[in-house]
Amino acid sequence: MIDNSYLKYSVGTRKSSNHLAHFNSDIRMQIITTAQVFYGVFLLLVVSLEVTESRFLVKTLPGLLGDLPFTLETGYIGVGESDEVQLFYYLVESEGNPKDDPLMLWLTGGPGCSALSGLLYEIGPFTINYANSTLEKTMLQINPHSWTKAASIIFLDQPAGTGFSYAKTLEAYITNDTSSTMHTYQFLRKWLVDHPKFLKNPLYIGADSYTGLVTPMIVQKYITVMKLENGHKSTSKGTCLVIL
Ligand SMILES: *[C@@H]1O[C@H](CO)[C@@H](O)[C@H](O)[C@H]1NC(C)=O
Ligand SMILES: *[C@@H]1O[C@H](CO)[C@@H](O)[C@H](O)[C@H]1NC(C)=O
Repeated sequence: MIDNSYLKYSVGTRKSSNHLAHFNSDIRMQIITTAQVFYGVFLLLVVSLEVTESRFLVKTLPGLLGDLPFTLETGYIGVGESDEVQLFYYLVESEGNPKDDPLMLWLTGGPGCSALSGLLYEIGPFTINYANSTLEKTMLQINPHSWTKAASIIFLDQPAGTGFSYAKTLEAYITNDTSSTMHTYQFLRKWLVDHPKFLKNPLYIGADSYTGLVTPMIVQKYITVMKLENGHKSTSKGTCLVIL
């Protein structure tokens, strides 16, 4: 229904993965001996060079008049043992005060329902302008009740095969609640490392419908690891489960 040609309008920036190397080495240093640290850091540097995070700032969308009145970033984060699963996200920065407003990870149900559903039909910043849409062209308009008025929200296509998310091997398309929990958790960690300015914001994980099943597992995993790594700045303020 919505074409994805806006990706072509994107202003691309490739991000170095140095943060990832430092972040991972900090974690590992708590559990490995000093002699292993240098080898570990070296390995992580090499591994992180292969990480293919990419992000794009989207300025305009087809079907929407004028420039976007907020920051929309899209990108991929590789998860799984060798980044065989590439998860696609949309980040809409808060239109309030992105520096202090909460950061929310929003998961749409299914399993396998595109994040566009959240962006266009639920809590996101757009709605369809039905009055001016035709069969050939869908027109969008800004949703005045979007939750992004008060929070920065990551809309995630998960698991692999959902929306623009894909896998590099056929096996990696076979998912279940356990693997999608792990992948979403990994996504969140890597995304935060890649976006350090959000590390201090209150973090919420929200979900609708089927993802209400996996979200408690993701939160449990996240909190367990955060407790282990006492020094990490990010705090999980709460989980919000919304059944739509
Ligand atoms: C539809 O387009 C017309 C003409 O451009 C405009 O006047 C009208 O406000 C639009 N309607 C909506 C709901 O955007
Ligand atoms: C879930 O998927 C993972 C990865 O494919 C697999 O290792 C695991 O056995 C699966 N778990 C169940 C309960 O099917």
